[in-house]
Amino acid sequence: MTPDEFRRAGHALVEWIAAYREQLAAGTLPVQARVGPGDLIAALPAAAPEHGEPFAAVLADLERLIVPGITHWQHPRFFGYFPSGGSLTSVLGDMVSTGLGVIGLNWQASPALTELEQVTTDWLRDLLGLPAQFSGVLQDTASAASFVALVCARERATDYGAARAGLQGGGAPLVVYTSAQAHSSIEKAALLAGFGREHVRAIELDAEFRMQLPALEAAIRRDRAAGLLPCAVVATSGTTATTAMDPIAPIAAVAGREGLWLHVDGAMGGAAMLLPECRHLWAGIEAADSIVVNPHKWLTIAFDCSLYLVRDPQHLVRVMSTNPSYLQTPMDTQVRNYRDWGIPLGRRFRALKIWMTLRDQGAAAIRARLRRDLANARWLAAQVDATAPWRRVAPLVLQTLCVRHEPPGMDAAALDAHTRRWTQAINDSGAAYLTPAVVAGRWVTRVSIGSALTEATHVAELWEEMRRAAQASAAAG
Ligand SMILES: Cc1ncc(COP(=O)(O)O)c(C=O)c1O
Repeated sequence: MTPDEFRRAGHALVEWIAAYREQLAAGTLPVQARVGPGDLIAALPAAAPEHGEPFAAVLADLERLIVPGITHWQHPRFFGYFPSGGSLTSVLGDMVSTGLGVIGLNWQASPALTELEQVTTDWLRDLLGLPAQFSGVLQDTASAASFVALVCARERATDYGAARAGLQGGGAPLVVYTSAQAHSSIEKAALLAGFGREHVRAIELDAEFRMQLPALEAAIRRDRAAGLLPCAVVATSGTTATTAMDPIAPIAAVAGREGLWLHVDGAMGGAAMLLPECRHLWAGIEAADSIVVNPHKWLTIAFDCSLYLVRDPQHLVRVMSTNPSYLQTPMDTQVRNYRDWGIPLGRRFRALKIWMTLRDQGAAAIRARLRRDLANARWLAAQVDATAPWRRVAPLVLQTLCVRHEPPGMDAAALDAHTRRWTQAINDSGAAYLTPAVVAGRWVTRVSIGSALTEATHVAELWEEMRRAAQASAAAG
């Protein structure tokens, strides 16, 4: 494709994306994809084209083949999983990143890539109300950031054992503590970092699904008595199922006393800390060793964009650094080389989409949108609370509700089946999209509010849909 062909195809594609977003805003598309397993595979040729085709044909197939296979995360009635950032400014930022086609192997390979990342991660840190002693780096996902955190914890506890025999050098087994509601990425990170499933403790929860402090302390005591070495605690600021906030200050006090690394997973809930009125929810955060917050969730930035913040960048660099001759430059002592702040060597220019989005929207508009979502969640909670036989099964902390419709006379198994049936019925209807989850051993329906296009009217429409679907399911069940 020549630059001139790109100009024409690019204009057409931007036009297509704009029209797609307009269609989403109009609310006419079904939220959930309308395809079955294998439909797209069957519609595509088995072999790659031998000769090029006009770009218009590709564009036509986007509409004909791809869109029907999309569950529309940016739809105003998307209430599944978590809000996914997709600001159109950040779409443009990604386009520039790819258009420039640079790769940040080191500062010299693209100085602006490094320095814009340094500036925008500082901006985000400040917007989150965190102290200047934290330094940030952009990763692809929270899963990668939490993995890096646990490797750093392991290396601190073993005095950089990886540079010797690693975990195969003997020594007391290291233990990681997290809550029973921690995201699955934490256990995965612990397993991949070599701790072993036997050394990952899922600490019991209190009545509000937060990590229980006495249970954490008891687990540490038991492990020490058994000759194990407590190494790290991972607290969650906004659990996936209910957005519960583990109590950071007392956990940090335990971590400090016991010499544990404290990593805070604020992948989703951390976004709320742009609002000063929410910061009490992670009081004590300044004592964390590392924090992850995903701007690609509730902060409007397009996937992928995960902010990893550390208190001791020198430790991170010592654990992660590689220094082959072909990457060395005379500037190395004066600059950041972000390849030493995470796993990949090559890095995209992710900071562009943050920079552009913040300049286009301003932090005030993002805060206003967060407050709008919190208010919409409070409204829905009030409707549920006032309407029997609906029940909220977890406190409303941020923008996620966990609800059940509990008609009298159904036993636990029947209620679980009912919950999944009416939720699935809404998804299949295309009217809205919700994700059920298991909380305290029972199926509940999560309503996660915060798609950029979701206004109060969409939440009111969802509530109507929920009542209709639950009534129909109860009558059928
Ligand atoms: C609390 C929490 N942590 C981590 C993750 C994983 O995020 P990522 O997809 O960026 O790895 C999620 C995703 O839902 C989450 O809710």
